[in-house]
This record gives sequence, structure tokens and C-alpha cells, in this order.
Amino acid sequence: MQRALTGIKPTGDVHLGNYLGMIRPALALQEKYEAYYFIADYHALTSVFDREKLRAHTLETAATWMALGLDPERTILFRQSSIPEVCELAWILTCQVSMGQLERMGAYKQARDRGGDINAGIFNYPSLMAADILLYDSHVVPVGADQKQHVELCRDMAIKVNHRFGEGTLVVPEVSIQPDVATIVGLDGQKMSKSYNNVIPLWLPPKKLRKLVMKIVTDSKGVDEVKDPDTCNVYSLYKLFATPEQTAALRERYLVPGMGYGHAKEELFQVVNATLEEPRERYHEWMAHPERLEEVLAEGARRARSAADVVLERVRDRVGLI
Ligand code: ADP
Ligand code: TRP
Repeated sequence: MQRALTGIKPTGDVHLGNYLGMIRPALALQEKYEAYYFIADYHALTSVFDREKLRAHTLETAATWMALGLDPERTILFRQSSIPEVCELAWILTCQVSMGQLERMGAYKQARDRGGDINAGIFNYPSLMAADILLYDSHVVPVGADQKQHVELCRDMAIKVNHRFGEGTLVVPEVSIQPDVATIVGLDGQKMSKSYNNVIPLWLPPKKLRKLVMKIVTDSKGVDEVKDPDTCNVYSLYKLFATPEQTAALRERYLVPGMGYGHAKEELFQVVNATLEEPRERYHEWMAHPERLEEVLAEGARRARSAADVVLERVRDRVGLI
């Protein structure tokens, strides 16, 4: 069976962009692939400098996966740091990538342009991300559009390793990005991201969720004006939660006078809330039982390790470390 792998950093509240762009598509792959989904706690160390926060976000992220339907019988859920050998592979890969390639990464350039202190972890993180993927012989990597460049660099590293040390040393993975959810917009119409402070967290109580939905930015057209659904942030989210019939009905309302944006936002709140209601209950149940989450993570780590051992032994042998 081919393998799917993805990771998410435990750096803050999981939000609708994470859910629509990555988690939902990744969960859909569970049946066709042997899936390895992990909580990227080593990656979080580049920006989280508080042990309680890191621990809390790690458990919240695990509970999120479980609440949204990860099947632990089938899918391997684990903490990245349970398999510290990933750092060994990251080092080997760091020696196969040029400074210039790392300097061209958008995420690094953005950090540089924001100014201030940039730790070397931020600069080197594509090597660790490549190690995450390659350590498990992953075939497909479901992510949002912002991660495309990193998966492409990972492919380049794998190809280089195979060229230098022999074909078959590493599996060259494919990126998987769903075009309709590649970049989910946030409250302000930019990409929804923890770093832009424009997110709608997944697990808000309904009242707060409604309040945030009401804050989504629209143009200033009044009730009596015809509106363009295709450029509207509210409609773009609505169609990702609603049925095709609901979507067609709301579209009609945009195209004739008489609907205010408040109405569209109320409709959006209703469909988002309906989708998240049951998972929200499951989320809180998991959060009330961290020991159960730890059990799932421990079993995941055990299975991840047996896959990682095979690959690392092969790589060590090929590069001359044994
Ligand atoms: P953030 O940008 O909020 O820090 P992460 O870097 O933790 O989010 O992203 C985890 C996963 O969610 C990645 O696969 C990423 O591509 C995806 N993702 C994050 N934000 C969005 C978005 N706005 N639209 C689509 N996918 C997203
Ligand atoms: N870099 C990803 C992000 O910021 C998270 C991540 C770490 C990841 N390792 C990965 C995603 C491996 C896919 C595969 O969202």
C-alpha cells in the first residue's frame, strides 16, 4: 500500500484554513493509503519558547485529528519528536541542499523581510521537513498551497540523494493540493494564517464562532445592490461547507437585490456550526482524557518507528555511515 504523510505544527489554535486545506483532504486519504500523520513539535521549537504552551498545543492538535475522524486502527498518529532519528536524516539532507536553495524559500524570505532575529532553525527547516517526509518512504503529501515549495525542495533532495548514493535510496514523493481549498482566506481576505491574526479557530463555542464570522470583511454594497459571489470572502467559505443546493440558493440571493451581507454571514455561521457541532463534542471529550490521547500517540510512535528504522538503516548504509 502506498503511504500518505503530513504534519501540522502545534503553534496555536487549529483553524478553518488548516481544516479545509489540509486536515479534511488528508482524512479522505485514510482508506486508500497507509497514512502517517504527525504533530510537528520539533518544527514548533522555531517559534514556541514556552514548554506549557508547546505541550498544550500538542495535545490539542492530537485531539483535533481524533475529533475530525482519524481512525487510529488504520492511520498512524504520532509526535514528530517520538522518532528523534528524523534529526539524523535531516542532517544528512542538510548536506545535500545548497544555501541558495534554502534562501529561495518563500517562508524564509517572508521571515527575513519582517526583520528581527531569525534563528537558524527557520532557515534550515525545509531539511527537517524533507526528513519528515523521506523517513517514512512517503508517496503522497497532502498540504495547502503554502507548502508546495517545501515539498518540491524535498523532491529535489531525494533525487539528489538517489543520484549520489544510488537509485532507490529514497522514495521521491508527490505533493497533493486540492485546488478548491489550496488557499483559504481569513477574516481580512488574506490567506488565513496564525501569523496574520485573521483566523477562525475550529473549536470556538458557537457564540464566539458567530461573532467572528460576522467580522469577515466584505465590500460595502448595501442590501439593495446586486453582489458578486465570486469575489466574496463569505461565499467562498460557504460553498466549502454547504451542499450544492444550498450553495446555488445563496448564489441566487447575491445576484438579485434584497440580501445584506449580514444574512450571508448568518447562513455561513449555520453551515460551519452544523459541520463542527459533533466534532466539537468529541474534541472536548478527548481533551478531558489526555491519557487516551497519549495511548494513541504511543501506539502511533511504535508503528512509525518500525517504518523509520528500515529507511534510516538503508540510508546510513548507502551514504557510508555503517
Ligand atoms: P499556519 O499558516 O496558520 O501557521 P500551519 O503552517 O500550521 O498553519 O499549516 C498546517 C497545514 O495547513 C499546512 O498543510 C498548510 O498548508 C495548511 N494551511 C494553513 N493555512 C491554510 C490556508 N489558509 N489555506 C489552505 N491550507 C492552509
Ligand atoms: N511545514 C509544515 C507547515 O508549516 C508542517 C510540516 C512539517 C509538514 N513537516 C511536514 C507538512 C511534512 C507535510 C509534510 O505547515
